[in-house]
Amino acid sequence: MENLDQLRAELMSAVEAAADLDDLERVRVTALGRKGSFTKLMKGLGALDADRRKEAGRALNDLKEDLSRALEARKAALSEAALEARLDQERIDVTLPVRPEAEGCIHPISQTIDEVLEIFGEMGFTVAEGPDIEDDFHNFTALNIPPEHPARQMMDTFYLPERTDGSRMLLRTHTSPVQIHTMMAVKPPLRILVPGRSYRRDSDQTHTPMFHQVEGLVIDETTHMGHLKGCLIAFCRAYFEVDDVPVRFRPSYFPFTEPSAEVDIGCSREGGELKIGAGDDWLEILGCGMVHPRVLANCDIDPTTYQGFAFGLGIERIAMLKHGIPDLRAFFESDLRWLRHYGFAPLDAPSLIAGPGR
Ligand code: PHE
Repeated sequence: MENLDQLRAELMSAVEAAADLDDLERVRVTALGRKGSFTKLMKGLGALDADRRKEAGRALNDLKEDLSRALEARKAALSEAALEARLDQERIDVTLPVRPEAEGCIHPISQTIDEVLEIFGEMGFTVAEGPDIEDDFHNFTALNIPPEHPARQMMDTFYLPERTDGSRMLLRTHTSPVQIHTMMAVKPPLRILVPGRSYRRDSDQTHTPMFHQVEGLVIDETTHMGHLKGCLIAFCRAYFEVDDVPVRFRPSYFPFTEPSAEVDIGCSREGGELKIGAGDDWLEILGCGMVHPRVLANCDIDPTTYQGFAFGLGIERIAMLKHGIPDLRAFFESDLRWLRHYGFAPLDAPSLIAGPGR
């Protein structure tokens, strides 16, 4: 115990002399570790008589406290010095790529809309939009679907609560009402594309109550059925990236077009695997037709001067076909694993990297 002052002086100067955190830890273990010089002294207390034990115990405890404080202080000083040295040396290399885990991806719906807009954009179409909540006039009547028309039952409609005048707003069942908004606001020539949500009371493996469409509308004095076919065939080739993809115009019926057609593309479904552009099967991808004269007249456009075509295609549908996505409902479940699998790297989005005329 006589050497306590000397031990104190030695330990304190060793703490001060520690050059880095590892050094300091070594000092701590030499003193306070299981076999440390200080620990040995503590064990030696048992051999002393009661009075001396008390005195020596207090002195040892004081030393231990002082030593711990000195260790803490030195540790703080060394850590700060280490941090400063690091900050001094480190440079941020702004040329390194972004950390991959911070990168999101583009949802297949957004990607598909981008691709469709880009293809039709090159043909001179511009984007128009309209509200998701519509009135009966724009969604049905102006599109030549009067009350009691069976086509109203074809599209199970979500209605909003009755208003004071007894009428009810609804969630648009297709993007076609934007044809009406546009033709009432702007006079021809017109060449528009309308991407947007549509709603129908339907839910199973191939239907969700909300889905996406892109509507197209061309109105001028000379556009005819040949233009409609040429335009949509060019679209199918560009979108599916198959030059000779078979395209079939099958007679159909929509109240707002006459004549009307549905477009099918050729595919094969051998062994449960879908292949576009080969085989002898057909898959429907869109509805189209020449705009009905009554629809033009409803928008104050003279059908004896103007004519044109319209089409509406389902975004989820063509995305599923192109990328082999089996279940429609997965589009809206926000499952990150699904998004990582079917999503697109940001730089694959065509309209984000290239301007018009790419
Ligand atoms: N609106 C139709 C539908 O949702 C598609 C369509 C649009 C058909 C334009 C002809 C012209 O089924």
